[in-house]
Amino acid sequence: MQTAGAALHAPDSLAVVARSLTVELGGKEALTDLSFELPTGSSVALLGPNGAGKTTLFRAAVGLVQPVSGSIEPGSGPVAFVPQRLELEPSFPATVRDVVRMGRYGELGWLGRFGERDRALVDGAIEELGIAALAERRFGDLSGGERQRALLAQATAQDARLLLLDEPFAGLDAPTNQALRDRIRRWRHEGRTIVVATHDLQSASRDYDLVICLNRRLVAIGPPAEACTEEVLGETFAGRVVRVGELLIDTAHHHHGAG
Ligand SMILES: Nc1ncnc2c1ncn2[C@@H]1O[C@H](COP(=O)(O)OP(=O)(O)OP(=O)(O)O)[C@@H](O)[C@H]1O
Ligand SMILES: [Mg+2]
Repeated sequence: MQTAGAALHAPDSLAVVARSLTVELGGKEALTDLSFELPTGSSVALLGPNGAGKTTLFRAAVGLVQPVSGSIEPGSGPVAFVPQRLELEPSFPATVRDVVRMGRYGELGWLGRFGERDRALVDGAIEELGIAALAERRFGDLSGGERQRALLAQATAQDARLLLLDEPFAGLDAPTNQALRDRIRRWRHEGRTIVVATHDLQSASRDYDLVICLNRRLVAIGPPAEACTEEVLGETFAGRVVRVGELLIDTAHHHHGAG
């Protein structure tokens, strides 16, 4: 990460290290004194209500916002960040294939030559996300879900050690949702670290090694059995989580589908 001075890089066994991280936005604290470590090779669900600071945490991790105090450092290796859908620039003129190819630029540099391996990673990602038929279309002309698939293909092509996915399931159709679940599982088996911001409490408590419960400050971090208790979720979501039979529901989100 691009902080001033000698960056204190995390050891290889850690994919992210946050130390007393505090971030202010518009004069208000968006994140307060967060400290945690994410082991390399884990899948992590990031839970919290709207405005909890999930996106801010990702932006701080990739250096798009600077902390007022404390730090957050990714471990070594390329980092892929797939932004939340609402933040995407819809009038982007590039084709879908261009967007996926951009996933390779971080490693190559803008002047680097695109080689066999790069081409194979791009083609494989396009195939995997089922966007071959869209490859020559303008990214800006795609539907929201199609754009999301293109950005996930970009992240796949990037061959990153750490993937930060901001509500990647929001707006995906059922087959793409399944493809992304499979992809996350495979990334994990490949030893990569995946952090997924989500409003899907069921999935968070079932599908991930670790869960972070965030509401500007760190409410809990741990395996789902520890971090997805009714008590912790009640505190994280300020009483807006209700139990319906076996289901825990974030009442702010269940009307328009979980992200
Ligand atoms: N550029 C900005 N200037 C001022 N305040 C901001 C800015 N960006 C975000 N905020 C505020 O920071 C807080 C955290 O926002 P953030 O986008 O990180 O939340 P989030 O957990 O990602 O929410 P959501 O679930 O809606 O995506 C919110 O109160 C938000 O209004
Ligand atoms: Mg967000």
